[in-house]
Amino acid sequence: MIHKRGSDSSLSDPMNRFSASRRRFLKQASNASMACSATALFSRNLFAAGASPQAAPSPDGPARVYFDSRRTIAPLDRKLFGSFLEHLGRAIYEGIYDPGSKLSDANGFRKDVLNEIRQLGVPIIRYPGGNFVSGYNWLDGVGPKKDRPRTLDKAWDTLESNQFGTDEFMAWCKAAGTEPLMGLNLGTGTAEEAAALVEYCNVDKGTKWSELRRQHGIPDAYKVQHWCLGNEMDGPWQIGHMSATEYGLKAADAARQMRYVDPSLKLIACGSSGPLMPTYLEWDREVLEQCYQYVDGLSLHRYFGNNERDTGGDTSKYLAMNLRMERQIAETIAVCDLVRGHKRSPKKLWLSFDEWNVWYRTTTGDAVDGHRQEAPHLLEEVYNLEDALVVGGLINSLLRNADRVKLACLAQLVNVIAPIMTDANGILQQTIYYPYSWALQFARGAVLDLLVQSSTYEVSGLDQVGHVDVAGSLDRTDGKLSLFILNRDLSKARDVEVVWEDAAPARVISASVLTGNDLKASNTFAAPRRVVPQSFAVPASSGGRTKFEVPAHSYTVVQWSL
Ligand code: AHR
Repeated sequence: MIHKRGSDSSLSDPMNRFSASRRRFLKQASNASMACSATALFSRNLFAAGASPQAAPSPDGPARVYFDSRRTIAPLDRKLFGSFLEHLGRAIYEGIYDPGSKLSDANGFRKDVLNEIRQLGVPIIRYPGGNFVSGYNWLDGVGPKKDRPRTLDKAWDTLESNQFGTDEFMAWCKAAGTEPLMGLNLGTGTAEEAAALVEYCNVDKGTKWSELRRQHGIPDAYKVQHWCLGNEMDGPWQIGHMSATEYGLKAADAARQMRYVDPSLKLIACGSSGPLMPTYLEWDREVLEQCYQYVDGLSLHRYFGNNERDTGGDTSKYLAMNLRMERQIAETIAVCDLVRGHKRSPKKLWLSFDEWNVWYRTTTGDAVDGHRQEAPHLLEEVYNLEDALVVGGLINSLLRNADRVKLACLAQLVNVIAPIMTDANGILQQTIYYPYSWALQFARGAVLDLLVQSSTYEVSGLDQVGHVDVAGSLDRTDGKLSLFILNRDLSKARDVEVVWEDAAPARVISASVLTGNDLKASNTFAAPRRVVPQSFAVPASSGGRTKFEVPAHSYTVVQWSL
């Protein structure tokens, strides 16, 4: 049933945009579920499964990192460091597409943004949503621009000009050197419409929808490989929200129809939107019982914040949040493998962590309500230093889980909860830009299975947490080895000693650290370099060891050549 806005007090409330109600919903749900299932959720064993290598006895000595080139977790799929662009706020319009701007090319693409993203080397970008996709008709966004309708996006109460659609996104991806991860509308959209979009994108010619693409002046099929079967369908805020079984059946039907069109697709079913959902894990199980055989991956989402609900404003707790992400990954894998067992399936699903980030300031009121404007300023979160350290920790957690998490998207990329902001004159790199850019630049080859010993501190709900959290990668093709180091200690610099068990490095290529006196400091257009990385010198190794110091509350990357 569609409520008329204004006839229902909850819908006429300006705070009641979908995201705001998502937050409220999660808060209520968390209070309820904490009471009944605290023991199950926060048991020591679950935690140990995700994070035990980080915590081991070494009271006040250096943190030790044992490197053995023979011990790796998995080859690193670069899609682990993808991102996300939604028709939301100024992500598309004024973000990547701004035909009126002096900074745009003949296609209307912002050249400075395009260059930045090309240089970053973002491997895959999810599009067009997000909550937006669940009410989106892709046909509104193709064909001659003058004929495209102006529509009301009900997810964010925004006017959508449809001047940027599937074909513009594909052209933009090509120019940015990235791969599309296409989201499908399984809210108001049908399985048939999803299959039609696959036909439009992937069939060369000779069928209704491929010929429509050709009429639009695009002779070559895009051959899009990765597709999300809907978005957050477990959430009551989602347009077209339904029960897990209904969604699982719809996803199975869409997947079947899509594969009839193109059998080579990689399909991702919607898993839980986060552990605070009352249906967490049960949703995933029920969905997979219906569609396991038709999909390749399962999605999971998570946003963190240093707020009352998540941390009580305690930064030492905030810096441990990546371990909660790891627990969520472990729990979701457990469900995938449970259903695999039920089905006696040889296939092992991978996870698509296709929305993750810090997001907690711009979650209510005008920050999430477009007020029926075009390109309103929504979710324009201003990130500070501590947020960047958390993002660094989350990158470490993704790396450590690279055996099952094959795809992940920092949500989002431009202007909306983003590392990159635009104004009329240029771009700004927010604090979280730096750890993300390091992952893209330095994480290569295979993820290392490091043994890390660090002193620990107590975090309620997480037990003992290492002060020093380390992940690493080794590219055997060029012998480059990178370590990513989070020092969670708010007041003390920590010595880190790398023990080279089977191969010592020939030289240090680079070492950079992100830190500062003020954990709340941010970059702004007026002061864009308040929080930027500094390079530092790492001594050569001697006696099979290298020792250096990482500052209090810092995130560091060091790259060596073996
Ligand atoms: O990324 C912002 C929003 O967060 C997305 O639209 C939705 O999927 C999630 O709730």
